[in-house]
Amino acid sequence: MSRGLDSAVHLVQQFLSCSVQSGGTSVDATAGRGNDTLFLARLTGPEGRVFSFDIQEDALQSTRLLLESAGMADRVTLIKAGHENMERYVSGPVDSVIFNLGYLPGGKHSFITKPDLTMRALQSALRLLRAGGRAGLVIYTGHPGGMEEYEAVEKIAAGLDNALFNVIKIVVLNRAATAPVVIVIEKAGG
Ligand SMILES: C[S@@+](CC[C@H](N)C(=O)[O-])C[C@H]1O[C@@H](n2cnc3c(N)ncnc32)[C@H](O)[C@@H]1O
Repeated sequence: MSRGLDSAVHLVQQFLSCSVQSGGTSVDATAGRGNDTLFLARLTGPEGRVFSFDIQEDALQSTRLLLESAGMADRVTLIKAGHENMERYVSGPVDSVIFNLGYLPGGKHSFITKPDLTMRALQSALRLLRAGGRAGLVIYTGHPGGMEEYEAVEKIAAGLDNALFNVIKIVVLNRAATAPVVIVIEKAGG
């Protein structure tokens, strides 16, 4: 896997790593194959907790196996529920929330993230963040519905009060227009 500036997942992880505290709480809003959950579990450490959501058993099973092989399953609560219900399962404050949107690599494309649910989940994430906490999103625009999801996220992010949130967007300039976009939102006051 690429670990350079062309890897949107790597970039978003780098931006979130500053906000994840040992012993703290973080959220993976889209568990998928578990790579982002494992990343968060390593940083939160044995006293921390990661809540990891997915609507597919296939994804949660992959994530469980990855965590077990790394000896970190006990740091993570896997939740089979949509991330739009995040606040039913997680009480803040949380250090970080990661959204790696789209569909499960190697899985069914029908279980794709949806703009309206992503919006609700993002609003929840922003309420849950501690001061100085960060939400990071990797957004793919090349599949049906992807551009709508990107535009919806961008609209919310760009409209946030700059006294309350710092927001950045990263686009890769020398790749196809459909290359993934990264948005990072930091709650001010940390
Ligand atoms: C690109 S994958 C995530 C990749 C993952 N973070 C990793 O490290 O491998 C997107 C995931 O979002 C999940 N998903 C779709 N809608 C969802 C929802 N409403 N709530 C939570 N997960 C959802 C899909 O099932 C899929 O597994």
